[in-house]
Amino acid sequence: MTRIFVPKDSAALAVGAEAVARAIAAEALRRGLTVEIVRTGSRGLFWLEPMVEVETPSGRIAYGLVTARDVADLFEADFLAGAAHPARIGRPEDHPWLAGQTRVTFARCGIVDPASLADYIAHGGLEGLQRAREMGPAATITAVTASGLRGRGGAGFPAGVKWKTVADTPGALKYIVCNADEGDSGTFADRMILEGDPFTLIEGMAIAAFAVGATKGYVYSRSEYPHANATFGAAVQAAMASGRFGDFDLELRVGAGAYVCGEETALLESLEGKRGQVRAKPPLPAIKGLFGRPTVVNNVLTLATAPWVLARGAEAYSALGVGRSRGTQPIQLAGNVKYPGLYEAPFGLSLGEIVEGLGGGTASGRPVRAVQCGGPLGAYFPPALFDTAYDYEAFAARDGLIGHGGVVVFDDTVDMAVQARFAFEFCAIESCGKCTPCRIGAVRGAETMQKVIDGIEPEANLALTTDLCNTLKFGSLCALGGFTPYPVMSAITHFPEDFLRPHEGEGGVR
Ligand SMILES: Cc1cc2nc3c(=O)[nH]c(=O)nc-3n(C[C@H](O)[C@H](O)[C@H](O)COP(=O)(O)O)c2cc1C
Ligand code: SF4
Repeated sequence: MTRIFVPKDSAALAVGAEAVARAIAAEALRRGLTVEIVRTGSRGLFWLEPMVEVETPSGRIAYGLVTARDVADLFEADFLAGAAHPARIGRPEDHPWLAGQTRVTFARCGIVDPASLADYIAHGGLEGLQRAREMGPAATITAVTASGLRGRGGAGFPAGVKWKTVADTPGALKYIVCNADEGDSGTFADRMILEGDPFTLIEGMAIAAFAVGATKGYVYSRSEYPHANATFGAAVQAAMASGRFGDFDLELRVGAGAYVCGEETALLESLEGKRGQVRAKPPLPAIKGLFGRPTVVNNVLTLATAPWVLARGAEAYSALGVGRSRGTQPIQLAGNVKYPGLYEAPFGLSLGEIVEGLGGGTASGRPVRAVQCGGPLGAYFPPALFDTAYDYEAFAARDGLIGHGGVVVFDDTVDMAVQARFAFEFCAIESCGKCTPCRIGAVRGAETMQKVIDGIEPEANLALTTDLCNTLKFGSLCALGGFTPYPVMSAITHFPEDFLRPHEGEGGVR
């Protein structure tokens, strides 16, 4: 019986993967052929979705941009044997976009059946947890620290240091909380893990729990991810019923759509059933977190990378990357880009290689003008800074952020003054309201930027904006207010011509 792999990833579903799966089942039935359709995650080559793969004696053969209407034709061409067809891509791993990647966190994504723990184990799953159990909690933490793995949620804090703090804090009850709120614009890596390789996250959380002495875990996901929540929820049930995770108990919780609930303390408030407002630090969540207990809060990617680190060894991980940015980063290419998708590579590529090389430039075919890295609070980079190496320190040196790995591309039709106003508007809408610089400053910032756009004393209002940005940067309680100056100031610094020219029409559209 031939196995056919059709992604059930949200990006693939959005472009018709469900209809393709149904058409394949119907056509096989019509022809009296027995096939097994496995619903996988995505390999991350979004511009080729729906990408269907067929298992043949010479490995899996992929066919890209398949529509339901192509299905009869594919059968006619004998795609079940991997035969030639205009949609044929060949072996996915030979495709240059995949061949150039170093897949660590996403090694199994798009390959395994996310509904099957047995398939996960058959692909090397649970080796990391097994290794951790053999090494013991202290050595597990030492390995994670030695690997150089840093938090992938945005701040880049060393995961092993956080785990050690929780392990060293006395407490009868401790928690592992996975931050799957993924609110950053242009990011989808967490979702791809939840949908494509959920057991690796569950294993990573079990490793963290074992290391710090916790028995309970929560994954905080978002209501905007219904497909991910369904796939991941089913995986949690299967994992907990399997008895393979010892006394570790895991629950999936779904937030209600506030960006600030991705901030770890607001997330904890929300998990406790309260309004998602930021808590003042200290105390750190590692000392006093969920329900006042010592708590590890880590991003999906951080936790999902732990099994690889344990299974392959800290040295194998730390051998990848540059400087203090060790390992790989799943780069998420989005916006106006020719080849959108997820590209996992060791830190150190240049921004130009990422945008022009991997991304192929803009989808519109116009010149790239700006790239926003690190989500809505990240800086805009002009092509003049495309030599910047993709690593935490090199980005920080140019007042930028790697953040969660989002790279959003804009062509030369973008109006950077409008983008700067949008940054303030975003902050105003998403502010939790706890501190004054952010609650009031964001509203005043949007108004001031509107004056610039309207040509009202632009120099004076830009000076006021700079002053306001300093207040936000140094006076805000959390990074929502504290980082809003990054997109605003980078736009003003790198694209000054957009701020001192007349804008036409409502909203300052050129
Ligand atoms: C406004 C705001 C939103 C955030 N959103 C997320 C998010 O969606 N996912 C995430 O993992 N971290 C987010 N963070 C960072 C978290 O506060 C925290 O640093 C992270 O979850 C820690 O995990 P890590 O060390 O594995 O990165 C956000 C921070 C701020 C200030
Ligand atoms: S900076 Fe904004 S989001 Fe953060 S605590 Fe202050 S008001 Fe809340």
